[in-house]
Amino acid sequence: MTEHPQIRPLIDADTIAARVAELGAEITRDYAGKDLLVVGILSGSFVFMADLVRRIELPLRVDFMAVSSYGDGTKSSGVVRILKDLNREIHDRHVLLVEDIVDTGLTLHYLLDNLSTREPLSLGVCTLLDKREARIRDVPLNYVGFPCPDAFVVGYGLDAAGLHRNVPYIGVLEQDGASS
Ligand code: IMP
Repeated sequence: MTEHPQIRPLIDADTIAARVAELGAEITRDYAGKDLLVVGILSGSFVFMADLVRRIELPLRVDFMAVSSYGDGTKSSGVVRILKDLNREIHDRHVLLVEDIVDTGLTLHYLLDNLSTREPLSLGVCTLLDKREARIRDVPLNYVGFPCPDAFVVGYGLDAAGLHRNVPYIGVLEQDGASS
């Protein structure tokens, strides 16, 4: 495996794959017989989304939204902008949002508010990581991959200033000069 000296491994690729398979099985059970639309929130969810939908053994559709809540920094701005909206209406669909990580909850709170005005048949959330300690807004999470410590994590789709999305595992980004 390629070494990334500034990334301290937290969750390895095999552990992620096993958990994604479990989530897929749960979602398969819960949405059987329902018209399911899986909505990935770009860009951070793209790797998780690709793996997850292949573990859901149901007919389904996918769509994507792109939102911006952070600039290149690592602190939430609290300001959410929709950069790309859904391609079609959702009032006749059961919608499952797929997020990479819920941190302050500000992004997801905004998205749930926005999407519920479109009156989908149901609106659920699946997040790979839950950084619970950092929560400012309470948000309902139906499926959680892993709890996450209150540290800045990268890999498996998650970035820092656009980098590290292609790292196959999840790790904590160490500050310059940090040891341990
Ligand atoms: P929230 O609005 O604070 O919940 O943040 C949501 C978004 O911020 C996530 O979808 C990520 O794109 C980004 N984010 C939050 N924490 C991290 C992290 O530790 N690493 C990488 N991106 C993060």
